[in-house]
Amino acid sequence: MAMPGNENHNAPSPVRDGIYLGQSMKRLGILLSGRGSNFLAIAESIKSGKLPGCEIAVVISNKADALGLDIARTLGLHAIAIEARGRKRAEHDAEIIASLRDHNVDLVCLAGYMRLLSPGFIQAFPERILNIHPSLLPAFPGLDAQEQAVAYGVQIAGCTVHFVDEQLDHGVIVLQRSIPVLPTDDAQTLSDRILEQEHIAYSEAIARVLSGEYHITGRRYLRRE
Ligand code: GRF
Repeated sequence: MAMPGNENHNAPSPVRDGIYLGQSMKRLGILLSGRGSNFLAIAESIKSGKLPGCEIAVVISNKADALGLDIARTLGLHAIAIEARGRKRAEHDAEIIASLRDHNVDLVCLAGYMRLLSPGFIQAFPERILNIHPSLLPAFPGLDAQEQAVAYGVQIAGCTVHFVDEQLDHGVIVLQRSIPVLPTDDAQTLSDRILEQEHIAYSEAIARVLSGEYHITGRRYLRRE
């Protein structure tokens, strides 16, 4: 996924909002647990030039049999399983943090990573961890968000890309995309249509964050015009 030609090792190193704004490639670390369709959408955005100036440095899963890891290997990316089973959260997270650091990751993207991060993980990458959730937060955090949306009877649903903080599905919102809930929808059809929006939203959110053209006031992510 590297895009040779964009690197300029002699460039100064301007930093704004804690994000490096030089010419070097920004390096993403992807964490996933399952099928990896959001990860694949990010990889395709990079390949097609929709997400310029960044590359996927490493894909890490807490499940060795995650389909997303197979996809990453097929794409020739570094793909690592760091199994969580039987280990304390802090110890497991410390190994992941070490791997992300070894790979010089600038931004961590949770893409269907089904594990809560320890406070130490969040502190290791302050405002450098994104997550995608299949609802318009703060509605329907947690598991089965699409099923919750259908059961509640909302007429608008969608997805949210947000910074990760120490509470579940809670951090500052970077971007949301919405769709109508159709009278014919069930949890599966709604999930499928939200997923289409997720695949657009994640790359757009990554581009926004890597641009550094924003500031955060309270809970508000505000773009610099
Ligand atoms: C997505 O719906 C995402 O919003 C949620 O987990 C699911 C992961 O799907 N956090 P995939 O593995 O990216 O296909």
